[in-house]
Amino acid sequence: MKRLAGKSALITGAARGIGKAFAAAFVAEGAQVAIADIDLDGAKAAAAEIGAGAYAVHLDVTDQKSIDAAMAAVQAKAGGLDILINNAALFDLAGIVDISRASYDRLFAINVAGTLFTLQAAAKLMIAQGRGGKIINMASQAGRRGEALVGIYCATKASVISLTQSAGLDLIKHGINVNAIAPGVVDGAHWDGVDAKFAAAEGLAPGEKKKQVGASVPFGRMGTAADLTGMAIFLASAEAEYIVAQTYNVDGGNWMS
Ligand SMILES: NC(=O)c1ccc[n+]([C@@H]2O[C@H](COP(=O)([O-])OP(=O)(O)OC[C@H]3O[C@@H](n4cnc5c(N)ncnc54)[C@H](O)[C@@H]3O)[C@@H](O)[C@H]2O)c1
Repeated sequence: MKRLAGKSALITGAARGIGKAFAAAFVAEGAQVAIADIDLDGAKAAAAEIGAGAYAVHLDVTDQKSIDAAMAAVQAKAGGLDILINNAALFDLAGIVDISRASYDRLFAINVAGTLFTLQAAAKLMIAQGRGGKIINMASQAGRRGEALVGIYCATKASVISLTQSAGLDLIKHGINVNAIAPGVVDGAHWDGVDAKFAAAEGLAPGEKKKQVGASVPFGRMGTAADLTGMAIFLASAEAEYIVAQTYNVDGGNWMS
């Protein structure tokens, strides 16, 4: 028996990286998945690669009209929504005295407001449907403590952990489980960008930061998107019914809490 058989899911920022891996894993478990991304061409390519069960939806999580349109598109295509993964996010790097308002506004608009108002729209839909639901927010080990050069991103991910707690406590009365995953360092296009920013800020050779962070993971290497799919499937499944407002570390042992 597939664990997500017959379920309708929407995953934000799923054109590439972790979201795309989640989409493929959810389709393999029997779900119909909306690959919702600001990069519509990328979302279409990801859906074509994953095959039947995946479809592309344009979504800019900073735009309420776009969020509402994406929910309507999912309703039209799949007849409702059972699972949301709030995965879209942006990273930036700057020391405290160099942080710009533009960077602050952009990261909070996507990582925090985007998460909250996409969650809100999905929750309204799920409450109206009356059959509960599962919402998974992508936090980060960066939300567990600050980092000298990563102040804004860390603050956004701490906010995601806090919103997960509040939304989890508020929505469980509707049978909607809200939980989060806090990955550690996950290799891919995202971390290529992070590595380049650290190389510029710390005078490192390209690839050096990745080697450093990978070597410091207790498991012995950086994570992969595939390392995270088991937790996402579990939290989206009926097996996670009694789990409320939690954030789970999936990070090779980097963080303990
Ligand atoms: N990669 C890591 O090491 C790592 C570690 C901890 C947490 N995370 C979190 O996991 C999630 C996925 O990370 P990833 O590495 O796959 O990132 P990624 O940068 O590879 O993918 C992010 C996706 O979000 C999309 N996106 C950007 N702005 C958007 C918007 N306004 N509306 C809709 N979509 C938008 C992008 O087009 C892209 O497809 C993020 O929340 C990230 O913060 C990643």
